[in-house]
Amino acid sequence: MEKKEIRNQVINLLINLDNEQKVNQEEILIKTLFGTSEWEKAKVIALTMAQKLELDTSKIIEKAWSEDKVVVIPRTKKDRKMDFVVYKKDTPIEVSSFGLKEPARHLIATSRSDIDLIIVPGVAFCEAGFRIGFGGGYYDRFLANYEGNTVSLVLNEQQVELFKADSFDIPVKLLVTTKKIIRTIK
Ligand SMILES: Nc1ncnc2c1ncn2[C@@H]1O[C@H](COP(=O)(O)OP(=O)(O)OP(=O)(O)O)[C@@H](O)[C@H]1O
Ligand SMILES: [Mg+2]
Repeated sequence: MEKKEIRNQVINLLINLDNEQKVNQEEILIKTLFGTSEWEKAKVIALTMAQKLELDTSKIIEKAWSEDKVVVIPRTKKDRKMDFVVYKKDTPIEVSSFGLKEPARHLIATSRSDIDLIIVPGVAFCEAGFRIGFGGGYYDRFLANYEGNTVSLVLNEQQVELFKADSFDIPVKLLVTTKKIIRTIK
């Protein structure tokens, strides 16, 4: 199956996923994440302000703050690039042209080498760590020259068979599913 087909199929599964089931799975994934050494070691953590369809990241943000970790969130730029900006309770947020909540334009970006762990969002994931996102290529571009740790939290509905990834697709280093933790190559 093509990436596009898988993307549409999984989006459909997520649209139809019962909220209680989603919340139950999220609880397991988040707890598992908090038990990993990657989480424990990380001082600066990148994640997105989730859209309704995606895994709710608000509890991860609260936990990071409670452990004095720095949270950084993405801001889209020209040419499908993005950077990350420190997110605190009083960080001014703007709504981007896609309707996404992003840090205000004037804020200074965090350098990518300062980010210890990126929680990489996506639509579908296979066990090798390859992911299918929403199709913008934003994460592929950013991860192409990022050396730190990456993890994705995968709902059961988002787990798919190995698919034909493109040359520019970058696998995540750690996958957390409701059943196990998978450390992919590298
Ligand atoms: N490193 C890169 N440099 C330039 N273009 C890239 C790079 N990586 C991906 N792209 C472009 O981005 C487009 C979308 O890629 P893809 O379908 O894999 O997106 P995705 O992985 O679903 O999105 P995202 O990374 O935002 O979650 C492709 O057309 C590809 O050419
Ligand atoms: Mg990709």
